[in-house]
Amino acid sequence: MEQFEQFLRTHLPKVESFHPHYETALHTMLLAGGKRFRPALLLSVVRAYNTLLLPNAYHVAYAIELLHTYSLIHDDLPVMDNADLRRGVPTLHVQYSDVTAVLVGDALNTYAFEVLAEAPFSDRTRVKLIRELAHNGGLHGMVLGQIIDCHFENQPLSLNEIKLLHINKTAKLIAASLKMGAVIVGEEILASQLYEFGVKLGLLFQVQDDILDATQSAQEAGKPTNNDGDKNSFVTLLGLSEALNKADKLAVDLLEQMQAFEVPLQQELNWLLRDYINRHKD
Ligand code: IPE
Ligand code: IPE
Ligand code: MG
Ligand code: MG
Ligand code: MG
Repeated sequence: MEQFEQFLRTHLPKVESFHPHYETALHTMLLAGGKRFRPALLLSVVRAYNTLLLPNAYHVAYAIELLHTYSLIHDDLPVMDNADLRRGVPTLHVQYSDVTAVLVGDALNTYAFEVLAEAPFSDRTRVKLIRELAHNGGLHGMVLGQIIDCHFENQPLSLNEIKLLHINKTAKLIAASLKMGAVIVGEEILASQLYEFGVKLGLLFQVQDDILDATQSAQEAGKPTNNDGDKNSFVTLLGLSEALNKADKLAVDLLEQMQAFEVPLQQELNWLLRDYINRHKD
């Protein structure tokens, strides 16, 4: 992922203005790191099918990371999860102000679509990519999940409702990252297979995130932990050991489902997912 990091550093938004910290604040959370899981998923698909398209695919991977980073900045705001640490650094509303965090989030969100609109692909491919990111990262996906997550704090949901919350909040963007890789390489059937696989992978990712909230220190996680007490998390609903069982079961299912993919894609995903598939056991 070193090349992706390099791409990101050279494509940071540049702003000429007399505002004292707008440009720095735009860069802070992008440069603070993060696992870059969604870009890595997209790039795995492109690498498996057409390595020549990788340099172009970085634009798309970057757009996804921009949107994801905005979602984290807003997620941490006092009116949402009220978190003071993210990616190991103080959150933007702590470093600057709530207003700065809201507006930097807005800017990264819209910049994601500017980057996609300018990505080096045909108009047809670009429109498809814009649609996928908007649909899954926006009102029919991540935003829907977040509004349910925040509205139902301290109001227990059923297991199915929590599943739906997690699918929208987290899984759809992860599924879209895989699907957008397939869109780039022009594999239409694969695009829907990967989306389905990605929804399950994203569900596992969020179940694990809920588990890590209960088991990791803030230093390990780079964000506050033990912070989900009011939330409809899998751990709150099921307890830690049932949540661990749920994660194990999803991980086994995913490894089995992966066998259906063509060998180069299996190899790419095996390589990437070895760090993720059992991270609830770390
Ligand atoms: C955190 O996402 C929010 C969730 C959807 C669980 P990540 O765990 O991918 O956060 P970064 O990008 O590595 O910081
Ligand atoms: C947030 O889920 C998912 C987003 C859409 C940002 P969480 O609230 O559980 O994510 P963390 O634990 O703060 O990273
Ligand atoms: Mg949240
Ligand atoms: Mg949060
Ligand atoms: Mg969490």
